[in-house]
Amino acid sequence: MRILSGIQPTGRFHWGNYFGAIRQYIELQNGQDTAFYFIANLHALTTIRNRELLSQNTFDAAVDLLSLGLDPERATLFVQSDIPEVSELCWILMTTTPMSLLERCHAYKDKKSKGLTADAGLFTYPVLMAADILIYDSEIVPVGEDQKQHVEVCRDIAGSFNNSFGDSFIIPQAYIVKDTAKVPGLDGGKMSKSYGNSVEVFDDLKTQKKKIMRITTDSRPVESPKDPEGDHLFQLYSLFASPEQTQLLAERYRKGGFGYGEIKRELAELAEAYFATARKKRDELVSKPEYVKKILSDGAKRASEKAATVLTRIKKACGI
Ligand code: ADP
Ligand code: TRP
Repeated sequence: MRILSGIQPTGRFHWGNYFGAIRQYIELQNGQDTAFYFIANLHALTTIRNRELLSQNTFDAAVDLLSLGLDPERATLFVQSDIPEVSELCWILMTTTPMSLLERCHAYKDKKSKGLTADAGLFTYPVLMAADILIYDSEIVPVGEDQKQHVEVCRDIAGSFNNSFGDSFIIPQAYIVKDTAKVPGLDGGKMSKSYGNSVEVFDDLKTQKKKIMRITTDSRPVESPKDPEGDHLFQLYSLFASPEQTQLLAERYRKGGFGYGEIKRELAELAEAYFATARKKRDELVSKPEYVKKILSDGAKRASEKAATVLTRIKKACGI
């Protein structure tokens, strides 16, 4: 089976991205399947219009993924735009994609409902995503809940092409990563870079601790018992703690007699220990940009072999 997923380089990864997506993607590299992961810089172009920022973010995303455990010996890592066949396939797919299908997609619909004008890039974003998936004959697409609709659209587009030109594409399946229980942000809402409530995985430790100390809590007196259920400080703590440590914290909550400051300091220590190896790896990789670039170009070579074969097959199917 071929697994494929893409990650947009729209900023540094936060705890929500890691626990909600990246951790599971990386684990999949250890099975029997072939895993392809790419950095979706063409998609990011729909929101980032700053050349230095986009290329820096793309490099940072590669370094972060490798630091967090993506192993280039087991998985193929590359940059989306290094495979030009994707853009060519995107056009071919657009010719068999009904407008009504794209009008239902949430990114475009949300923008329009706010009275904002969307550009064609945002409107056709799901077709590019379909091309990303179909060009490698991908079978399994691990994504978070928010991307499920786009994989459905990809299945529809592939089906519509197959109807017109005969069986040409493998119809992929979304694999909704487990544990995507929304990681809460500092204010208890969903952690997101757009809400200013996120903690970045590779924030320097001082900044990270400062953010953790800002986690909102209720103002009950220290001695009163507290309910761990639904408490976002408790939820964040449990991401980094062992089941035993989480159990102990739940008991402390129910007994009362502690201050939230104490828990936040413990959370900062747990998070520091949790990502200590990744931080070390990151320091090492940042000092070897050529090595990182080589991993990406080797990845692109492998991906483009597959992409070229599939594109030839598709062009033949539609008479180009
Ligand atoms: P942001 O909301 O910060 O812009 P993205 O939309 O770029 O994040 O998220 C990329 C992926 O990370 C999503 O597909 C989703 O699976 C995961 N993700 C993001 N935020 C969270 C969160 N708070 N909890 C769980 N998963 C998340
Ligand atoms: N649209 C996805 C996101 O924003 C990123 C992405 C682009 C992707 N192409 C893909 C994910 C193909 C899976 C498969 O998170």
